[in-house]
Amino acid sequence: GSLPHSLYTAEQTRNLDAEAIQVHGISGIELMKRAGQAAFEAVLKQWPQIARGGTLQIFCGAGNNGGDGYIIAALARQRYIPVRVVTLKDPDQLTGDARKAWEWYRSLSGRTQPWSELISITGDLVIDAMLGTGLTGEVSGDYASAIDAINTSGKPVIAIDIPSGLSADSGMALGRSIQADLTVTFIGMKRGLVTGTGPQVCGQIIFSDLQVPAAVYETVPATAKLIKKRELTGLIHPRARDAHKGHYGHLLIVGGDHGMGGAAIMAAEAAMRSGAGLVTLATRPEHVMASMVRRPEVMARAVATGIDLEALLKGKTAVVIGPGLGKEAWGAELLKVVLSSDLPVLLDADALNLLAETPELLQARENCVITPHPGEASRMLGVTIPEIAADRFGSVEQLQALCGGAAVLKGAGSLVAVPENGHVCTYICRAGNPGMAVAGMGDVLSGVIGALLAQGLSAAEAARLGVWLHASAGDECAKAEGEAGMAATDLIPAVRRLIN
Ligand code: APR
Repeated sequence: GSLPHSLYTAEQTRNLDAEAIQVHGISGIELMKRAGQAAFEAVLKQWPQIARGGTLQIFCGAGNNGGDGYIIAALARQRYIPVRVVTLKDPDQLTGDARKAWEWYRSLSGRTQPWSELISITGDLVIDAMLGTGLTGEVSGDYASAIDAINTSGKPVIAIDIPSGLSADSGMALGRSIQADLTVTFIGMKRGLVTGTGPQVCGQIIFSDLQVPAAVYETVPATAKLIKKRELTGLIHPRARDAHKGHYGHLLIVGGDHGMGGAAIMAAEAAMRSGAGLVTLATRPEHVMASMVRRPEVMARAVATGIDLEALLKGKTAVVIGPGLGKEAWGAELLKVVLSSDLPVLLDADALNLLAETPELLQARENCVITPHPGEASRMLGVTIPEIAADRFGSVEQLQALCGGAAVLKGAGSLVAVPENGHVCTYICRAGNPGMAVAGMGDVLSGVIGALLAQGLSAAEAARLGVWLHASAGDECAKAEGEAGMAATDLIPAVRRLIN
């Protein structure tokens, strides 16, 4: 089914809970019962054989996530479904709603068994209710050994709210994470479910709003959202019957230092197929012929110096600089010239690596798009790649502040941070697949976004639409021919189809 657009941090979901409880009078245990019910129904729907003699094994942690697990256990007992509860914390020591949930299960003669005494994982289905949004710090001890045992058990696993070990905020596994087949998540979509490791460990995601009133969501404004196709369709219009090529912009692509011509050539071809009226490629002389042969529609021009490039900037509606640019004097000089113009610009690859060394060249402005992968982002922000992974949202927001327009942080669950109504909103792209982890993919993305900029879309619009088109084209290719062996230029016909 379709998931809500709005994404929340762990803290924000606690605020949503608190609003439902304090303002709308829905008690905490009632919310917990609704959560357990939603998860139980999802399990029966997906694995109907459970209601016909299957067994459930539910791993319950120390907090309210464990409480959700005890509710599911109680519901199973009411339906005479054999259920075993494995505890990571002595249930006598539970407090609050989790204790009430356990007491309900106990009142139905439900039994528990501590993890330390468990011999083997025997349930037909395993339910992970160990660690939810309350996770703080690395997973260790019993939780770590339980996660490892569940992951190697070969049983289908349903994660309650979020796979244990996955950070709800960053989408990073804190040491290790449950690998789920299905995740049933409640009240608010957590950011971590859809970026970083999240998409890999959640399996299918089902969302339940626990039937809280819509007003609850108005009190906690989301600062992150999923990119939805529906919201993008208005950005591209059918071509006017009396159009000429000048209506669709003229994109200049700058890159391809010695030995690196392919990147710029791919970016140019992608731009030409993404609706730009005209595309000019400024590159080293030895790449001109290759570009002409591959795509005679692209106007390939040799540039030796910044002065050559200045002439080429005239009449253009947007510029892409970076693919194969290199970090030598040639690239650095061309970058300076591009940044001294106020045309809409996309900076990628070596343009970003050069800027990491000379950050003063980058003036924040709204018509600028940057598209770093985590390596380039780490150089720009002066942190390590693991630090980027640990805080993809914080990182993309910092990158947005540097460029002033749209910052794209590539990687599974690409993020796009854009200015919106006076603050920064981060969009997440759920499309895309690991087949796209190959050389040249970023160059194609630059060309697509550049073409959209050239056609007059704002940096924010071009970045969101371009990221979605590129990832969705990757998914079309994977569906048609599989993930392995995908080539970056394979995406180009699919991008064209999707635009139309
Ligand atoms: N290792 C071991 N235990 C941990 C760790 C860790 N790294 N981090 C937190 N805990 C323990 C805490 O000490 C606490 O007892 O886990 C418990 C909290 O976990 P949660 O159940 O995730 O947190 P809580 O806030 O109680 O509940 C939030 O409840 O609304 C439901 O499922 C929903 O995810 C949500 C959960």
